[in-house]
Amino acid sequence: MGLGAPLLLPLLHPLFLGAAGAMLTLYTAPETRAALGSVALLKCRFNVGRPIDPAVLRVRWLSAAAGPVAQYDRGQGTFEPRLRLSEQELQIGNASLEVQDVAVQDNGTYTCEVAYGTETQLGKTTLWVLAAPRISLDQRVGGAETSLLCHVGGFFPEDMEATLLRDEQVLNGSTRSSPQRNQDGTFNLTLTYTFTPVRSDAGAVFTCRVRHPVLGQPLVEEFALDVPGSDRTGAAIGAVVAIVLALGAAGAASYCWRQRRAPPELSRIQVLARWDPPDQVPFAVHLHGFYPNGIHRVEWSMDGKAWERSEPSYYAENEDGTFSARSVWRVASRCLARPEQRVRVRVQHGPADPPIAGELSIGDTGVLRPPEVSGISPRSWG
Ligand SMILES: *[C@@H]1O[C@H](CO)[C@@H](O)[C@H](O)[C@H]1NC(C)=O
Ligand SMILES: *[C@@H]1O[C@H](CO)[C@@H](O)[C@H](O)[C@H]1NC(C)=O
Ligand SMILES: *[C@@H]1O[C@H](CO)[C@@H](O)[C@H](O)[C@H]1NC(C)=O
Ligand SMILES: *[C@@H]1O[C@H](CO)[C@@H](O)[C@H](O)[C@H]1NC(C)=O
Repeated sequence: MGLGAPLLLPLLHPLFLGAAGAMLTLYTAPETRAALGSVALLKCRFNVGRPIDPAVLRVRWLSAAAGPVAQYDRGQGTFEPRLRLSEQELQIGNASLEVQDVAVQDNGTYTCEVAYGTETQLGKTTLWVLAAPRISLDQRVGGAETSLLCHVGGFFPEDMEATLLRDEQVLNGSTRSSPQRNQDGTFNLTLTYTFTPVRSDAGAVFTCRVRHPVLGQPLVEEFALDVPGSDRTGAAIGAVVAIVLALGAAGAASYCWRQRRAPPELSRIQVLARWDPPDQVPFAVHLHGFYPNGIHRVEWSMDGKAWERSEPSYYAENEDGTFSARSVWRVASRCLARPEQRVRVRVQHGPADPPIAGELSIGDTGVLRPPEVSGISPRSWG
């Protein structure tokens, strides 16, 4: 913007110069934003309407907080550490100050002062130092209570908004520590929510959400609360709390927050040894190592026709906090007549997850009995 006028100077030259000498103009950018640790350029340009003579040029940079931080005086430069003015650039009207490894204390307003012969011009520019927060989640168990802690660290400036939510509803009962200053000048704080989980809390999604001027979008970290003894496993929450009490901090292994979804591993389709009832063939798959608990859908089909859509018949928790499940599908044995018939299973962990499929050829199973044992005529199942 301010550069418009200097561009006209060559045309105006003969009118303005003469005995009065040079006409000094100066332009600074109003502000610069820089991330902690990056290189910032505080922009300042000047124009004297003719080639610059370094012998009559003096440039100073002053910080509102710390006074002069860099200067160039008729060929001699002196700068604070991490600051730099380029002598070559000065000769073409560029007095921008480079700040290396930007630190919190660099935040503030600076003045660019250029003196050329007898003229002096000033311009101000503000450096905004920014550091994006990081989030980590933690939980502590003490007796029947559990505390969910959201640590927000390394942010600057101090203004920020941190919220804990449960199933997208703001948790009114959470407390926020006052910001603690780190050695590098950035801030940390912790949001805590303490409650006594009950069985119906299993699967609840807790979210820590942080808004900060550096972030275009809120920063979000989520947990699905895993309560062993929830409806699916049928065990009582009381037992879980007892285990947690007994194990103390180690209780986290049996009562834990996990952040990552893990898809199930699908076993090969097997025919179970025990046929109950005896005229139905039980096909089974194991789903192993998934998280969080719960399988959205298991779809069994034969000959391309979907027969059953269901949940697995049982769930179990593994030592590493993941879950396993088994699904059994029974088909009247009289329906299995040809070796080329195929049984298929499709499993979807969550409604949005891609299905995982398995397939078995009846000819590979040994379930095709000789006709004389069946005693049932083919007509009866047409
Ligand atoms: C001004 O000089 C700095 C180095 O001091 C350089 O990084 C920057 O690109 C220069 N600006 C322009 C517009 O040439
Ligand atoms: C950074 O500097 C600007 C300009 O001096 C000031 O308004 C602002 O409050 C400073 N930010 C912090 C967090 O100190
Ligand atoms: C502040 O947060 C940072 C990043 O999250 C972490 O590395 C650091 O240890 C925390 N400092 C304190 C004093 O807790
Ligand atoms: C929190 O408080 C607001 C208003 O005060 C209320 O609408 C909301 O339902 C409360 N949330 C919970 C989880 O209680």
